[in-house]
Amino acid sequence: MDNFIFKADSLYCEDVNIRDIAEKYGTPAYIYSKKTLEENINSYKNAFSKKDNLICFSVKSLSNLSILELLHRNGFGFDIVSGGELERVVSAGGDPKKTIFTGIAKSEEEILNGIKKNILSFNIESESEMYRIESIASKENKTVDVAIRFNPEVDSGGHEYIKTGRKKDKFGIFLDQIIRFVEHISTSKYLNLIGLSCHIGSQIVDLNDYKITAKYIKRLAEEIDKFGIKLEFLDLGGGLGISYSNLDTPTPKELADIIEQELEDRTEKIILEPGRSISGNAGILITKVEYIKDKYLIVDSGMNDLLRPALYQAKHDICNVEKNTAESSEWNIVGPICESSDVLAKDFKMSAKEGDILAIKTAGAYGHVMSSNYNTRRRPPEILVDKDQYKIIRKRESYDDLFKNEMEIED
Ligand SMILES: Cc1ncc(COP(=O)(O)O)c(C=O)c1O
Repeated sequence: MDNFIFKADSLYCEDVNIRDIAEKYGTPAYIYSKKTLEENINSYKNAFSKKDNLICFSVKSLSNLSILELLHRNGFGFDIVSGGELERVVSAGGDPKKTIFTGIAKSEEEILNGIKKNILSFNIESESEMYRIESIASKENKTVDVAIRFNPEVDSGGHEYIKTGRKKDKFGIFLDQIIRFVEHISTSKYLNLIGLSCHIGSQIVDLNDYKITAKYIKRLAEEIDKFGIKLEFLDLGGGLGISYSNLDTPTPKELADIIEQELEDRTEKIILEPGRSISGNAGILITKVEYIKDKYLIVDSGMNDLLRPALYQAKHDICNVEKNTAESSEWNIVGPICESSDVLAKDFKMSAKEGDILAIKTAGAYGHVMSSNYNTRRRPPEILVDKDQYKIIRKRESYDDLFKNEMEIED
């Protein structure tokens, strides 16, 4: 359920007519529903009935400061993958002590900054990273809390590019190597093992994948018990699938039930790292039909604004924000970018004419965050709707914004 619904013949976000926003802020533009975000937040808050838990929102899915602030106010922690995301969390008032740092290429600067800001945990993804964190911690004369991100060797998730937990993927540490890491950390003066973490992929609709992962995490935790180490958390990652067009997807409660069942006799706090299941259906991208040419609806937003269709062949539902009685046809909806892959939808049936505004739905996750300035296009604004009010939470870029870091060659 989201809150983008037709009232009479017009698409509304909550109680605001999308056309009013388009008139005020132009197109393309991202529009988010606060109510949908809050509904998704509450579905995670109410998911667990027995286990202590921390929900760490995956900042990479939607990183606008106002949205992060809303999540923080609701008690959420954060899953970050860069020093920049840590800066965002802090700027939004988020709590570093509720922030976990994942990612396979953490730089020295990022690690030092994370240590100084006292984050909850670094999720270690390689042996070299473990030694790097230890060396920086020793120079700072601090003992740093870490978790091991293991690769459960589970083939799950949607498109090839969003699978992360298989043996051939670059993420995490293989199961047969974990104990070597535990042995080292258990003797280190500067590292403190507090958790196990994993993320098996995205757009997961089969809860059995989580069940298998929970079994692995339990077995590993039991192995670690033998070292006399008391872990504080078990982190099962993000990845819960959402409906991009009429797909039945599991709820956070169903996911939590499985975890509570499988990990019933473990006492650690459970961490989850959801991204799209909080932000995905809370956002749309609106775009104007500039021209019609043959079977093409040529719109004013492209792969620089929403990369998912070009990157993952992702399919988004699209609608005309004004219902009309004109006959519908099958269109290839394409953007302005000079690439043949700049296709937002293929053979998509709808009725539209030049000047109409279209809404690309379920664009809240991995939408604006992946936008770029390719073809020197300005990234779109972000607008947050709250009942019958709306507020701009990120301005459209200006050309000055685009050029300001470029310098003349000195003679
Ligand atoms: C480590 C990690 N955690 C969480 C997520 C969030 O995934 P999703 O948005 O599918 O919930 C991702 C996504 O790539 C990830 O790589």
